[in-house]
Amino acid sequence: MKHILVTCALPYANGSIHLGHILEHIQADIWVKFNKMLGNKVYFICADDSHGTAVYLKAKSLQINPKNMIKNILVEHINQFINFNIFHNYYSTTHSKYNYIFLKKFINRCQKKNILYTKSVLQFYDNTKKIFLPDRYIEGTCPICNSINQYGDSCFICGSIYNSIDLINPISRLSSTIPNLMYSDHLFINLNIFKNNLIYWINEYNLNKNVLNQLLIWLKNDLIDWNISRDFPYFGFKIPSKYIYNKYFYVWCDALLGYISTFYKYCKYKKSINLFSNFWDINSNYELYHFIGKDILYFHGILWPIILNILNYRQPTGLVVHGHIMINGIKMSKSLNNYINTNNWLQYFDADSLRYYLASLLNNSIKDINISLNDLVNKINSDIVNKFINIASRISGFLYKYFNNILSKLLWDDNIYNYFVNKSIIIYNLYLKFNYNKIIIEINLLLDIINKYINDHSPWILNTIGSKLKNINNLHMFCTTIINIFKVLSIYLNPIIPNIISKVKIFLNIKKLSWNDLYKPLLNHKIKKYINIYNRLNILNINKIL
Ligand code: MSP
Ligand code: ZN
Repeated sequence: MKHILVTCALPYANGSIHLGHILEHIQADIWVKFNKMLGNKVYFICADDSHGTAVYLKAKSLQINPKNMIKNILVEHINQFINFNIFHNYYSTTHSKYNYIFLKKFINRCQKKNILYTKSVLQFYDNTKKIFLPDRYIEGTCPICNSINQYGDSCFICGSIYNSIDLINPISRLSSTIPNLMYSDHLFINLNIFKNNLIYWINEYNLNKNVLNQLLIWLKNDLIDWNISRDFPYFGFKIPSKYIYNKYFYVWCDALLGYISTFYKYCKYKKSINLFSNFWDINSNYELYHFIGKDILYFHGILWPIILNILNYRQPTGLVVHGHIMINGIKMSKSLNNYINTNNWLQYFDADSLRYYLASLLNNSIKDINISLNDLVNKINSDIVNKFINIASRISGFLYKYFNNILSKLLWDDNIYNYFVNKSIIIYNLYLKFNYNKIIIEINLLLDIINKYINDHSPWILNTIGSKLKNINNLHMFCTTIINIFKVLSIYLNPIIPNIISKVKIFLNIKKLSWNDLYKPLLNHKIKKYINIYNRLNILNINKIL
């Protein structure tokens, strides 16, 4: 049995959970549910990232206290995840006592290691809004490749990491004015001393090779020291004045520590502090996986390993990095009016349809993920309704009519049953490697095979010449075989469409579905009367949602 801690990036507490966030949580949750089916002990944690300029500005625009706003948003986020069948073991906030404790421990250790220093730096200041601008609030031309409209921290086109003041033609995204340069003292961590170790650590991670390459490209140059302080106005934790006067911790510093403090809170709540050290001790052999978007790879592939090392904690086992959601080929954004949050989604469609569709597009690569709602509706109606659910609805009538819903004592065809069970080796490996799109392809091949098999045996022409089944006993064993194959397919699909499969479990009259159940066909077992498991999606809803 493995012990695995899974995290998703902590969503900012400045708005609802949208399709981009839910993509990441679905990607992680499928893996969590799969591992649980194997009998592994999995902990899935997350939290709201409740600090920073974005949160500060949002509260200001709503004219409410940021503390109240983040409380409300936390409740909303937790519910939004639950509505997608995502139940974290613990969902916390970075604005917590324990997070501050870990933050102080971290800075203390930085000081002991002699890697902290203060320096006066030039920074962009928005004179109209009276605020120092964070990197992502400045836009300009990349100083390396000259691509326009790039943020102040890095270039989406060439991947370079730079200092915001090096941007060409900078403009404030808050006021669309040209920002001024002003000096301010800041607290830095010297990162370069970690460079060689970092190359060693990340080579040990379970990473997709493009991700590793990107990290190694960044590591070709010296690492830019990390400025971990921010000026007022800011919403965050104050840096103790013995380090620097009147500054706040940079949101990313306490955000990453949020992984640790959230798990700490969970362990405290479970009264098991051993569990905490089992996972985070430097020698831990438990697994730690972080699911993130490609936009925050630098933080997780460069800064996070260093933070862990400074704290004398273990390194992650792997990073699973996804690309960005596109809707009909266009980047999702509020300003483009193609922004979908999960509440809008659930007004018109269900959670499993999105889970299934996203699984059919996800494969542990950093390529962007294009959603076409037309494609989604067609895929769900064809794969789930016509091919999968239809198996149960076609066969259940015979079992009800002739056999009182009791399955036979033997299978009609062990070979075909074993064929479906043996596919588990391929599907298991695809799950392990986060290759969900290939799982969907495999399952569709299996669905075609079983539907053809049903047609070839035409159970509905039992008493006519040419019927392969010939008599009622054979029909009984045949239907039992099909129901058992339906169960095997349900095991494969369970991590992806848990709501649908929970209705399948009711129909099959079973409590649990674990991976081991593949080898235990249901025989001489009473199932329930079939009631509708899933309805077709309405294509007309597409226009309502966008
Ligand atoms: N708060 C930081 C993460 C801190 S982790 C210690 C953050 N928050 S976020 O709300 O902007 O994004 C959270 C996650 O959602 C990130 O992994 C990000 O890549 C992902 N997505 C946000 N928008 C996205 C899309 N449009 N498409 C796909 N995923 C994107 O970053
Ligand atoms: Zn560039």
